[in-house]
Amino acid sequence: MFKKEVYVRRRADLKKLMTKGVGLFLGNVESPMNYMDNTFHFRQDSSFLYFFGIDHPGLGAIIDFESGEEFLFGNDVEIEDIIWMGVQPKLVDKAEKIGVANSAPFNKLFDKVKEVVAQGRKVHYLPPYRGESKIILSEVFGLHPSRVNEYRSLELVKAVIKLREVKDAFEIAEIEKACAIGYEMHVTGMKMALAGESEQKIAGTIEAIPLKYGGHYSFPVILTQNGQTLHNHDHSGILKEGKLMLTDCGAESLMHYASDFTRTTPINGTFTQKQKEIYQIVLDANNAATAASKPGITYQSVHLLAAKVIASGLKDLGLMKGDVDAAVKAGAHAMFFPHGLGHQMGLDVHDMEDLGQIYVGYDDVTRPIDQFGTAYLRLGKELKEGYVITNEPGIYFIPALIDKWQAEKINNDFINFDKVNEYRDFGGIRLEDDLLITNNGCKLIGDRIPITIAEIENTVGK
Ligand code: GLY
Ligand code: MN
Repeated sequence: MFKKEVYVRRRADLKKLMTKGVGLFLGNVESPMNYMDNTFHFRQDSSFLYFFGIDHPGLGAIIDFESGEEFLFGNDVEIEDIIWMGVQPKLVDKAEKIGVANSAPFNKLFDKVKEVVAQGRKVHYLPPYRGESKIILSEVFGLHPSRVNEYRSLELVKAVIKLREVKDAFEIAEIEKACAIGYEMHVTGMKMALAGESEQKIAGTIEAIPLKYGGHYSFPVILTQNGQTLHNHDHSGILKEGKLMLTDCGAESLMHYASDFTRTTPINGTFTQKQKEIYQIVLDANNAATAASKPGITYQSVHLLAAKVIASGLKDLGLMKGDVDAAVKAGAHAMFFPHGLGHQMGLDVHDMEDLGQIYVGYDDVTRPIDQFGTAYLRLGKELKEGYVITNEPGIYFIPALIDKWQAEKINNDFINFDKVNEYRDFGGIRLEDDLLITNNGCKLIGDRIPITIAEIENTVGK
């Protein structure tokens, strides 16, 4: 946990943004895997962690935005629990650790909410994403669980985003720790990328690395020779010379801050000429995006810059044709780069995605572009100092997409389909770094994982 003052300050900042009603925050509960007592790895809700810091299940909290009072709700364990789990900290001690003055058993949360409603005051809550939280809110408000999200507080959503999206020095230090673990995960995987090795063994080996440090992966490892499938969790392949292994993974620090990196490695460590050419375009797009990222520029424009680097490189190879600016405007690059350049990262790997991507990634000035590929850009708005973001361009050859566009003559003026068809079994390349936006530019967080062609070739099998 951070020091008490950090949580006190965060809640004080929230009270400056929210002046009416109360805020209701639900922590997560244990979630059964296959029977009640055999639970999934416990993950606390990230906004609860941000404001209340306590990494235990079964808690709730209320902040009265008018009186300033704060309440923590939860149940102390009984002797039966102590026999199985050992002595647990008391609720009152948990509250003290985070500077919350009032604590009470969990069922008192219902009484408190009823009291506020009876006073005609608004109860603000964030959109729940877990069934258990939806059920609690449905009981509290007498709503059907399917309708609970409709009544989430947009005002609270926007206030929480405003605070959480600018990372302070304590948070950056945590993200750096997560990045150091992510570095080890990637380099370990790269070293194992030899023909005959199984994808599963590499995936399992690198997944264990954050556990060794007492943390966890920030999302299930993506590791595959079929990198053209963007989020491929099938690790059933055996590595073959001539193929590329795409690895997208990261860790959570002990305090649940994330890292998220992608590297693409040739099996046995030597790129073919064709692979080198495509790889260098993706690396150029990644480097161009890093060079352009700074406060005051929209990430949408950085995305489009990366798209132009990709379109221009593919044109040089004869895979695309025509005017590069016109091709990107028409969305022709998206057959090869059908996703966004990146997203915010913090307590969630896709930070605050539960609060609504449109509010995290866009604002009144920058709106999403409704075009295939660019529509998937999770972060488009103007960058600010203190943002932590990912930069993850890619080039993929997706046979089903190539066939569809060729059959329907989509962007026929900008794509040489005959040439593209020579790459049908190429797979995909994505290169992802994590960036901190500084006052006049940005910096890579953590040591850069081997990324140049020479660095990669010097790492595999070593
Ligand atoms: N690293 C997975 C993603 O950003 O979607
Ligand atoms: Mn990512």
